[in-house]
Amino acid sequence: MCGIVGYLGDKPSEYIILNGLKKLEYRGYDSSGLSILTNNGDILTEKEIGKIVNLENLIFKNDISQYHSKCGIGHTRWATHGEPSKENAHPHTDCTNSISVVHNGIIENYSSLKDDLINKGHKFLSKTDTEVIPHILEDFIKEEKDILKALDRTLSHLKGAFALGILIKNSNPSLIGVKKGSPLILGIGEGEFFLASDVTAFLDYTNRVIFLQENDIVLVDKSGYSIFNNCKKIIRKEEVIRWNSSQAQKGGFKHYMLKEIFEQPEALYNSIIDKVNFEEKSIIFDEFDTEFKNFLKEDIKIVISACGTSWHSSLIGKFLIESMSSIPVEVDYSSEFRYRNRKLSKKTLIIAVSQSGETADTLEAIKRYKGDNKILSICNVVGSSIPRESDFTIYTHAGPEISVASTKAFTTQVIIFYTLANYIGRLRDEITEEIWVDNIETLKNFSKLVQDTLKTNSYINKISPELAKYSDFLYIGRGINYPVALEGALKLKEISYIHAEGYPAGEMKHGPLALIDENFPSVVLLPKDRLYEKMIANLNEIRSRRGKTIIVTDEDNIEELNNYSEIIIKIPSINEFLQPILITIALQLLSYHIADFKGCDIDQPRNLAKSVTVE
Ligand code: AGP
Repeated sequence: MCGIVGYLGDKPSEYIILNGLKKLEYRGYDSSGLSILTNNGDILTEKEIGKIVNLENLIFKNDISQYHSKCGIGHTRWATHGEPSKENAHPHTDCTNSISVVHNGIIENYSSLKDDLINKGHKFLSKTDTEVIPHILEDFIKEEKDILKALDRTLSHLKGAFALGILIKNSNPSLIGVKKGSPLILGIGEGEFFLASDVTAFLDYTNRVIFLQENDIVLVDKSGYSIFNNCKKIIRKEEVIRWNSSQAQKGGFKHYMLKEIFEQPEALYNSIIDKVNFEEKSIIFDEFDTEFKNFLKEDIKIVISACGTSWHSSLIGKFLIESMSSIPVEVDYSSEFRYRNRKLSKKTLIIAVSQSGETADTLEAIKRYKGDNKILSICNVVGSSIPRESDFTIYTHAGPEISVASTKAFTTQVIIFYTLANYIGRLRDEITEEIWVDNIETLKNFSKLVQDTLKTNSYINKISPELAKYSDFLYIGRGINYPVALEGALKLKEISYIHAEGYPAGEMKHGPLALIDENFPSVVLLPKDRLYEKMIANLNEIRSRRGKTIIVTDEDNIEELNNYSEIIIKIPSINEFLQPILITIALQLLSYHIADFKGCDIDQPRNLAKSVTVE
């Protein structure tokens, strides 16, 4: 997730753009840049790595104000393709520096487009997917002369979800916005216009907005703006934003955590779309070289090293890889793994899982084995320390996760494990063609089921006040959902400060049952899978001790379950391997609303940090 800003008006454009980028810094901040139209009509571009303040210092050092620019575009980057660097920072320009582009989203087919453009003689400076856009547009502007037709032809070549800000030299319009899959908003001021990924960037100047819709192109010049959709001029309704800046950064949600819970359909889609090809029914990990693919076919074992929520997703990864291949998988807390007195055989692959890529224990754990063992990391932050220490990295594309409580990072880790387990199983010829095809097909409309699960939000909000009065909770699940019970308990305890334990349901008689009475509720994970009857038995043993239960299930026969619980959270059905994601989303909402009812500091819980870079 990156941040786009565009401006055309009568103020110094670099000043407006820098201010806007600072407001969008939460969307990504590994590098940033801007392009302005100078007073003699040239495009001038400045980029810097790191925080926006670094770009600001560069702008002042180079005295950009001397160009009296009134039009420009800017970008703050959250790297998905290409390390964080000046070369990879946006904007990106064409060969003649006549077109400059900033982009938020993913161009899925950039690799083949780039090959074609290089063959035509275009020169590339970055490793990004974005850079193909100005070069394609350059060719079509030469052919079409008409900007709108050239844009339309360019967009017809791009596959993926994206929002674009475009600056064109010696052209009227000079500022262009395109919306296809990622948000882009037009701000309308007094004789000035803004483009941005979210309204925060320009709320200080105007609250009059148009939320651009799918395939909208907006052309902006001094006289005003025009909006086109599929080359037809259209009118879009102007709206007035009532949020303040802080509310706007959260997209109108009360907390980042709730915003990030609701970002999961997009985050999950973005995390697999550059790996899974639904037409060809293939899964590709660009990172893996031939040697590594052959290694995965050998008689190997896997050790996964992680902390906290990432340790929970790793337990699900174990279940998935062992279900789809004959590889034995062990999961260890990094804080334990790094100190164990053990030698691993060279045939052991170490997988490090980390949202931040900076967790000290996980980083130290892989440093200990680097060189002796192959290291694969699953991470959400491109270019962070753990990927840099790894031989291979699979990136989740969850976007920046601001709230300390991890939500979309967890579910995107799980879906990466799902694709990796299928990939390995297929590579080793240990899953049938039929299972392979079915597992890929199931992913196709998965985002829809995630959206449907999010619809439980209002019911969960309603039941939470009554649950907030308890001081202890037990979460129980079986099989692949035992780690989900652990994750649900962690979510509740870390944001509401209510004591919560996750347990394998089969362990109830070995101790936890002693805790159960009317003051100690149990959250029971009850997917309609092969262990369903076993879970019903657990419900019976809890109810017979007057224990209150909260059931999360995809069972349609709710009447039968009403005998066990007054609180039943109904979620959609899906195969057992992906069900943990849907159940987890319900548990994220449950912990959020209980904590919100208690008035807790949800995004910044006491004593916790987003990234534990110390031991
Ligand atoms: C989860 O909600 C916590 N914020 C915490 O357990 C976190 O998962 C853990 O610190 C690991 O972080 P990482 O994924 O960035 O390595």
